[in-house]
Amino acid sequence: MTQSHRGATQSGRADRRVTASKSSIDEVVDADPRLVRLVFWYAASATFWLVAGTAVGEFLGLTFIWPEIASTSWLSFGRLRPVHTNTVFWGWSSLGALAVAHYVVARTSRTELFSYRLGWVALGAINLSVIAGDVQLIAGINNGGQEYREFIWPVMALFAVGLVACGVNFYRTIADRNTDAIYISNWYILAAVIWTLTLVTVAYLPGYQDGIGQTIIQGYYMHQGVGMWFTPLALGLTYYSLPKLLNKPIYSYSLGVLAFWTQLLFYTMIGSHHFVFAPIPWWIQTVAIIFSIGMIVPVVAGTANFLLTMRGSGTTISHSYALPYLVVGVVFYCVGSLQGSVEALRSANLYWHFTDFTVGHSHITMYGFVAFLIWGGIYGLLPRLSGREPPHALIGAHFWLSLSGLILYGVSMSIGGTIQGSMWIEGVPFIETVQAMTPYWVWRAIGGTAMFLGHLIFAYNLWSIWPAVSESDEEAADV
Ligand code: HEM
Ligand code: HEM
Repeated sequence: MTQSHRGATQSGRADRRVTASKSSIDEVVDADPRLVRLVFWYAASATFWLVAGTAVGEFLGLTFIWPEIASTSWLSFGRLRPVHTNTVFWGWSSLGALAVAHYVVARTSRTELFSYRLGWVALGAINLSVIAGDVQLIAGINNGGQEYREFIWPVMALFAVGLVACGVNFYRTIADRNTDAIYISNWYILAAVIWTLTLVTVAYLPGYQDGIGQTIIQGYYMHQGVGMWFTPLALGLTYYSLPKLLNKPIYSYSLGVLAFWTQLLFYTMIGSHHFVFAPIPWWIQTVAIIFSIGMIVPVVAGTANFLLTMRGSGTTISHSYALPYLVVGVVFYCVGSLQGSVEALRSANLYWHFTDFTVGHSHITMYGFVAFLIWGGIYGLLPRLSGREPPHALIGAHFWLSLSGLILYGVSMSIGGTIQGSMWIEGVPFIETVQAMTPYWVWRAIGGTAMFLGHLIFAYNLWSIWPAVSESDEEAADV
């Protein structure tokens, strides 16, 4: 009988522990200090953008309750909303995933990163693009009403420079690998960079983007941004961090390959599900809907692969401070994506399009799935690079604040959005539907506040594992 069980039996429920104590890291990886520094600076930049971007999200959430706080033009919803979305997309999610990706690509290729300089160039270019883009948006300069491509083209070109630098670096590292096969993580990571470069080029080239053409490209861009950039990146990282932290191989390599190719087959065709019932050809919408249903194949294959890898490892998961983040990420990947497949159906889209239900879906996926898998990778792998651990209680505080906040956010927007859509269909006067949403927006603000507090704790946790700088590191930095 363990100590805690004995205590519980002797003095009743009062002594029973509510959480399993967490194990410390079992190894410190002897990685090149230049790689360690690079990875940590990616993570630090990402964290800065997470805190800044969600401070803006928090402010926007409060404007739904107290609209008068948005008192000047640069605090207006129209300007700050894209600041929030672009900052959390390109600043937080991209750099956070790339932080872990630099480590995973080098580690699984059993070689050094091809070029540290390229790594820094990419980090500088992406950071600069987010700074320039945010300033430009707050100043009221943007690329028109095209969601997630509000950054004007010179700014996005800078982001693309960062992507090219990452792509070359990853490709050369993988090409120089000391293993026979290319590990599945690297399929996803390298493909994500190539797909996204294609996507950014297609989305920003002028010429064919007038009228309906622009709308169809917008649908393609919007969903490929989440589907061919963040999704494969987050999945690729998890194909490394999950088996590594569980200390066992991934359940099935073949399922991973099946999910990879079906992702490519189905995801590239679903963009127009954003414009169901819009004046674009009916058959294009139908194709997008059918392929949205097809997405069940890669989603179920990927989720099953991760869950079957976790099977029988309950004790390891409960004693790890990083693995619970991966469990949440995998569950929300499945739930959020299946929710999306239903949302694409005409009968469901009739109710949910334009409503806050979609805002709930965005956060369930981009936050529950992508952010949690990035946190799992950072908490699981970075302490092994620096040899320092964050306070376990604070990792738990971050976890519960973010998870409970997200659940409040997701549930309130899903219920509120459904009521909103039903009232619109019934022809209730618009202002009454706005009034009906007020309690749900209050719950969203409460959930958002919990999430934001979680991010502050995460920033502290990252700081607490920051690697100590030794003299040999400084010499290495000069090389
Ligand atoms: C894989 C299956 C998925 C399907 C079939 C799907 C489907 C949909 C649909 C139909 C909409 C549009 C709703 C509307 O405007 O009426 C939507 C919106 C959205 N989805 Fe998904 N989704 C999926 C997965 C994901 C994932 C994994 C992410 C994030 C990584 C994501 C992020 C988003 C975002 C951010 C929006 C909002 C776009 C906007 O601003 O209008 N989705 N999704
Ligand atoms: C990593 C964290 C986050 C990510 C990746 C994220 C992502 C997004 C995305 C994709 C959208 C567009 C939604 C759509 O059009 O369907 C959005 C909008 C929004 N987000 Fe977040 N978000 C994050 C955190 C937060 C937090 C903590 C709050 C606090 C309340 C928040 C509040 C909002 C608000 C108010 C909107 C505008 C909704 C509207 O247009 O009605 N977000 N966010």
